[in-house]
Amino acid sequence: MPISTGWSSQQVALHWVTVALVVFQLIIGDAMSEAWEAREDGLGGPPGIGAILHIIAGVSVLLVVLYRLYLRRTHGHPPRSENQPKWASTLGAITHGALYLLLIAMPLSGAVAWFLGVEGAADAHAGLLRIALVAVIVLHVAGALVEHFVFRSSSLKRMLRPGDIT
Ligand code: HEM
Ligand code: HEM
Repeated sequence: MPISTGWSSQQVALHWVTVALVVFQLIIGDAMSEAWEAREDGLGGPPGIGAILHIIAGVSVLLVVLYRLYLRRTHGHPPRSENQPKWASTLGAITHGALYLLLIAMPLSGAVAWFLGVEGAADAHAGLLRIALVAVIVLHVAGALVEHFVFRSSSLKRMLRPGDIT
């Protein structure tokens, strides 16, 4: 595993692209639910622009996340921030793992629902997985702010300013 002293500019950019796409998805999700209900009620017609954007942005999240995981393997990731307690770093690592899993499970469940017509996948997508994603994001953002303002560690700074990868 390569050792890195900071995130690369590509890794930083892709983190914030993911944030923008996921926030967009949570906002535009209603339009997708309407399209899904219309289809379930047997109403024909093509999906509206909101639903189409939801599918495009959702598939983009999947591609960006898979590429981020590839970059993590090839470029590495920065070591644990020195200034914070070990439990905070461990909780952070668990949160990041959960985020990656949910950022893969959300688009996959949505695609299985929409393209294969599986109702159970739609229920999981709009129910348990969505709630879990929002909860983990809240924990993640709270953690990032605590690390920055309370522990005064470098985590947030290095996710804003790319560093060297050696
Ligand atoms: C990270 C990616 C995604 C996120 C965060 C996300 C989020 C959401 C949200 C918040 C809703 C609305 C739930 C509600 O109002 O109850 C929704 C609905 C839906 N999404 Fe996604 N979505 C993502 C990707 C996708 C993809 C790629 C597809 C299809 C290719 C998709 C298909 C659907 C469908 C079919 C629904 C309606 C489900 C229902 O109402 O039962 N989603 N999504
Ligand atoms: C939709 C919202 C978000 C998602 C899905 C998300 C996702 C992720 C993921 C998956 C990682 C792990 C990177 C890795 O280890 O490979 C990460 C790291 C990070 N995120 Fe977020 N993030 C979100 C919002 C935010 C926000 C709003 C902030 C700032 C307040 C933030 C700050 C950070 C920081 C500082 C790290 C790096 C931690 C470190 O270097 O140890 N994130 N994020």
